[in-house]
Order: sequence, then C-alpha cells, then structure tokens
Amino acid sequence: MIPVSERMYALGSNRSEIRELFEYGKKRIAEVGKENVFDFSLGNPSVPAPACVKETLKKLVEQTDPVLLHGYTSAQGDASVRKACADFIRSKHGAECGENDFYLTCGAAASLSISLSAIAGAGDEVIVLAPFFPEYRVFIAQAGMKCVEVKCREEDFQIDLDAFEKAVGPHTKAVIVNSPNNPSGAVFSRETIEKLASILSSAEKKNGRPVYILADEPYRELVYDEGIEVPFIPNFYNDTIVCYSFSKSLSLPGERIGYIFVSPKAAFHSEVYFAVCGAGRALGYVCAPALFQRMIPACLGKTSDISVYKVNRDLLCRELSAYGFQVGRPDGAFYLFLKAMEPDARAFCERAKAHDLLIVPSDSFGFPGYARIAYCVSTDMIRRSLPAFKALAEEYR
Ligand SMILES: Cc1ncc(COP(=O)(O)O)c(C=O)c1O
Repeated sequence: MIPVSERMYALGSNRSEIRELFEYGKKRIAEVGKENVFDFSLGNPSVPAPACVKETLKKLVEQTDPVLLHGYTSAQGDASVRKACADFIRSKHGAECGENDFYLTCGAAASLSISLSAIAGAGDEVIVLAPFFPEYRVFIAQAGMKCVEVKCREEDFQIDLDAFEKAVGPHTKAVIVNSPNNPSGAVFSRETIEKLASILSSAEKKNGRPVYILADEPYRELVYDEGIEVPFIPNFYNDTIVCYSFSKSLSLPGERIGYIFVSPKAAFHSEVYFAVCGAGRALGYVCAPALFQRMIPACLGKTSDISVYKVNRDLLCRELSAYGFQVGRPDGAFYLFLKAMEPDARAFCERAKAHDLLIVPSDSFGFPGYARIAYCVSTDMIRRSLPAFKALAEEYR
C-alpha cells in the first residue's frame, strides 16, 4: 500500500483531460514544429495584458518600499485594495457593499474551493449546470459535498429550469452558475437568472435554510455583441457569493489573482464571510500575491483587447459551419462547443488529433457528444488550422 492519500494520488496521477492534451501538444510541437500543431486545448489568453497592468506594476516596483510591496498583507487582502473593489462594484452594478465583503485570493479556482469549504455541511449537495468546468467536481468533493449535475437545454445551452427545479431538494446548499460559460459560451439571460432566483427563494422558504448561488465569473467581461447583458447576480438573488478572477479579463492566468465577494444581503452574511476567512486559512490561501493585489485598483474595469476573440469566434463559426459542423454562435467567454460528428466525442477528438487539431472531448464537462475549442489563440493559427478542420469534416461524409 502506498503511504499517501488515495484520493489525492488519484487526482495527481490522472491529469485532467485538458491538461493531458496540452502536454501532448507540447510533445507534438517538438516532433513536427509549432506551425503544424493546432492547439485549442487550454483557456490560456493569447492577447497580452492591457497597458495599465505593466504601467502599474512598473510604478509599484519603482516607487514603493520593497519590504512593504512584497510583504504579507492582511490574510483577507489589503484593506485599500478591497475598498477599491467595493467602490468599483458599487458604481458599476449599484450594489451596496464595503471592503469587509471582499476576500482577495488566487483566481477563481481558489475562490470556488474556499467558498465551497466555507458553506459545506454534512450531507450537503451542490448543483452544477452541465456543461461545466470539470474542476468543479474536484472542488466539491474536497469540500465534502455531493455534486448534482443538471443538464442545460441542448438548443441554446440556457438553464433547463424544469430539470433544475426537480433537482433542488432539502439537501441543496449551493448552485454554481458560470456565465459567460466555459465550455458552451452561453450567457444566461436576465429572464433565466430571475426564474432561477425565484426557484431558489421558494426552496429556501421550504427548507428553512439558505441556498447560495456561487457566481463563477472569470469571463464576466468577455462578451462580443451589442446588447448582450451579463446579469450581476447579487442584484437578483440575495444569497450570492461571487467568485471573480482577473485571469481572463486581464490575461493574467499565471499570476493567480481574483476575489470572493459575499453579498452583504446574503443570509448569515458575517458568518459566511468569517467562514470564507477560515476556509482561506485552512486551505493555505491567506494573503493573495501582494504585488498583484496592489495592481488591482488601477485596472478594475479594464480588459485586454478582446476584439481579437470576436474576430476568432466569427471566423471559426463561419468556416466550421460551411464545412458542415454544427456550431452555435456563443455570446461570451472564448470557447466554441462543437457537436461531435459521431456519438463518441472522445473518438471524434482522437480523429481530430490525427490532423494535429487538439480539441477537448466534452465528456468531462458533463455533456457528452461535443468537443470544446478554446479560441483564445492567435487568429493566424486559426486560419492555418482551417484545412485540417475541413479534412476532418470530409472524413464523415
Ligand atoms: C469556469 C471557470 N471557472 C474557474 C476557472 C479557474 O480560473 P482561475 O485561473 O482564475 O483560477 C476557470 C479557468 O479556466 C474556468 O473556466
């Protein structure tokens, strides 16, 4: 018997399908050259961070006492940075809040695992809306809760509210809502969020205890068309905890910076906030990277040049449809959810791999039969990949 945790061993030795494919891509590049591999596996932004990031970091490094700059901040994050986040949320979304509703942390992944651990009780269930970010299963299991999967409607990937209502029960403690969505690109409409909120409010009354929405929002700013609204969930449902990240909006995924916002209107607000601080402590997430915390006030509301992603989305949607693929036209994030041309998405993605097209089968997203294309890559790579997509489609004629 190996002297380690079996669960942790399994998690570490079986890498996620996405990471596995990314590693394969690196190997393949070494064999056939970068220009011949079309890696759409990872949601790693290809557009550089906006100028405000570099300018602010430069100023901080040049003008701040390094002992202060690189030293520990408060466990929950520097107070002036949390105040800046609160001021921003108040002016942008009209939500009353203050610095003591914010906990700065290492991206959305940490925000989610901290928030789940903070609210977990024995026997609790968390509803996830498929297709969903596969790591949710890991975070929910780590918090000791049960993951309940509810599929979205296949025609538009909006929430299937009837199926959702049936899944909500006496043990439901939370629902993770990710919009704009990875991997479908769907943005849940205001009407959908209002109905979801009404179902949850009824469940709260019936159960006599809160059901929290964890709003997983790393893609909040990534929408491409006029008139697409990303509803700010705390304005529609009191018991909301926002798990935000700067990874995608500012193209900083490697820097690990984001925050948790516990809506001040949430039931047991101060208990939830203290439990967030406790979970941050227990999981070793105190004091998010200090330099990047201090970058936040100057960059709130800014994004990298997301017009590149719009060009990529439009190009892929147009060309892949012309080849006979079934693709929707996603409103946000930077993923395209492509219907596999055979029932087994893994077999389909293996055939794509033979053309050096690296796309992720949807099984681990809880929605079999599709493949995810991360289009946060260079437009040039997309153009060069088109003959390979065409050849793949022709195999199914
Ligand atoms: C839906 C979703 N949630 C959370 C995360 C984790 O984000 P972060 O890098 O900020 O931890 C990702 C990353 O791709 C994601 O797609």
